[in-house]
Amino acid sequence: MRAGDRRSPHGKLGAAPLASRGPAAGPASQRSVAHTAIMTAIVSLDLDSWRPPPDAAAQQRAVQALEGGGVLVLPRLAFALSPEEHRFLSPAWSDARAKNISLEAGVVKGARGDAADLGGLAGMIERFAAAAGDLVTALLPRYAPYVKRARSSFRPQPAIGRTLSWRKDDSRLHVDAFPSRPNHGARILRVFSNINPQSDRVWRVGEDFAPMAQTFLPRIRPQLPGSPALLALLRVTKGTRSEYDHLMLGLHDGAKADLEYQRSCPQQTVRFPPGSTWLCFSDQVMHAAVSGQHMLEQTIHLPVTALYDPASSPLAILQRLCGRPLLASH
Ligand SMILES: [Fe+2]
Repeated sequence: MRAGDRRSPHGKLGAAPLASRGPAAGPASQRSVAHTAIMTAIVSLDLDSWRPPPDAAAQQRAVQALEGGGVLVLPRLAFALSPEEHRFLSPAWSDARAKNISLEAGVVKGARGDAADLGGLAGMIERFAAAAGDLVTALLPRYAPYVKRARSSFRPQPAIGRTLSWRKDDSRLHVDAFPSRPNHGARILRVFSNINPQSDRVWRVGEDFAPMAQTFLPRIRPQLPGSPALLALLRVTKGTRSEYDHLMLGLHDGAKADLEYQRSCPQQTVRFPPGSTWLCFSDQVMHAAVSGQHMLEQTIHLPVTALYDPASSPLAILQRLCGRPLLASH
């Protein structure tokens, strides 16, 4: 790659020199994770119930893994489909416009089928939402008041392969940030379950949030004065975009646009086998889709005050790196 290409958002990603860590299950992933200083930690818990009994050690491991910016893997926690629900494991249920089939406030979006089909899809996604909520409540009781404000999705399409702009290309390492929905520092906790009976879901994960932010923060242009109010007025954004939101979008775009970073940054491949579940704060973990199909996902939005350690949040990290508060209104 030529030096001039370094920050080009265009072009294809070549094969990255990845250090593969293999399946998440097994003794290797039970160890406390090496490379904690730079690499996203992968931490396993040997749970097989969506309502595990209270266990202080498991709770502590879950909190440290998630709020520390790692991925918490539950290799034996499967989300079981009923015999009738197996028919939903097909991209034919997607209406082809939306990337995912979603359920919000009891309404299915992005799906096609008759009333009975849509009811069946809603029932499956709703049951997953309830299970994910039970799990988060059991493992992370401080988050319990927020599990009801969640949205859920079913992803029957292959994880990659769609032609997308570089900004929407989730096969590039990124942290999640939403251009139209400023969240003012609120956290994005996601619970994923691989319901494909045969194939792994495969991700790449990258370096810790702080070193990534140190790389890309200097490249982000300041917000134009008045632009947050204008974007809100024009309804480009739902509410006002804070400086925090601006920086998070800058990190998202900066990492995706830098193909040399995508190839050469610290990273590893993580495989999530059929019947496994995993959680992470996707606004903190550098992640990229590699392959897979048929996944259920639950998003829970948490205020920073709900965290066990608010100082570990991206908001706190960015404020430390910038040396100023990032939620002041303009
Ligand atoms: Fe993402």
